[in-house]
Amino acid sequence: MGVWRDKVEVADVNGAVAATLYLGDAYAVMPALIAAGALQRAETACVTDPPYEFNTSGGGAFRKERPNMDAIEAAGLNRGFDISILDEPSLDGPGGAIADPQAWAASAVVFCHDNQGPAVWAALRARYRRAVACFWHKTNPQPLANKHYKADLELYFHAWDAGAHPVGALTEKTRVWRGSVGKSAFSHPTVKPLGLMAKIMTNVSARMIVDPFMGSGTTGVAAVRAGKRFVGVETDAEHFETAKKRLADGVLWQAPRTDVKAPGADEPATTGEQEALF
Ligand SMILES: C[S@@+](CC[C@H](N)C(=O)[O-])C[C@H]1O[C@@H](n2cnc3c(N)ncnc32)[C@H](O)[C@@H]1O
Repeated sequence: MGVWRDKVEVADVNGAVAATLYLGDAYAVMPALIAAGALQRAETACVTDPPYEFNTSGGGAFRKERPNMDAIEAAGLNRGFDISILDEPSLDGPGGAIADPQAWAASAVVFCHDNQGPAVWAALRARYRRAVACFWHKTNPQPLANKHYKADLELYFHAWDAGAHPVGALTEKTRVWRGSVGKSAFSHPTVKPLGLMAKIMTNVSARMIVDPFMGSGTTGVAAVRAGKRFVGVETDAEHFETAKKRLADGVLWQAPRTDVKAPGADEPATTGEQEALF
């Protein structure tokens, strides 16, 4: 198509496509996929961890102890994202008027920094029938607070339309997930814990998960392990390669499978995860 620099399909053990990964700019790739009819709205959820928007200079005297902030700044992961990534490309209504934004997925899970919270919340409420705030409670935040709170909470919103509401057993329908932050094993500064993304998969009804800001592919690994199809976009070639490798391993762990011998080495349980951010 020329919109992306690379496209890779990852097959499951039966040869069916489990994941499609695009190397390119999500603001160009997503409209192309939508125009090509690649996404069925009712069966699709956008689950994404976009670039945050926050000040990386915080931390006062402790700032020098936070080299992860330098990596985040260098990668531009503190500069936010354009919420229109959730939308069908055409916003023109009858007579050229701007129509209400129409999301391409029937539900969305979007991570964000506190600073982005009000804008992302308003955008989701404008597009979806219901939305709730959920949290990752970090059990081992960096021991610093300066003139702020400890960085022990990270926010995400889950929004949905009728028919795409949260699912799962009552014990899985928690709005708080507790887990530690770790050191990245994937040369990416903001890798989400696989356990957190697996929990989110238990709450998302959609069979197709799309992440326009895929990073190292954690959302994709959780999606294919949960037996869902995954589409991911990443602009950074190194992270794209990481995601390719992780998804190739991830399909071997698709549940439930009794016909597949488990690979020898799973991803580490407590490493490869996002370090303390804010
Ligand atoms: C917060 S990180 C996602 C981390 C991911 N959840 C993980 O566990 O690895 C956001 C990612 O979006 C990518 N990104 C930023 N702008 C992009 C764009 N316009 N198109 C595609 N990817 C983009 C960045 O390179 C980064 O890897």
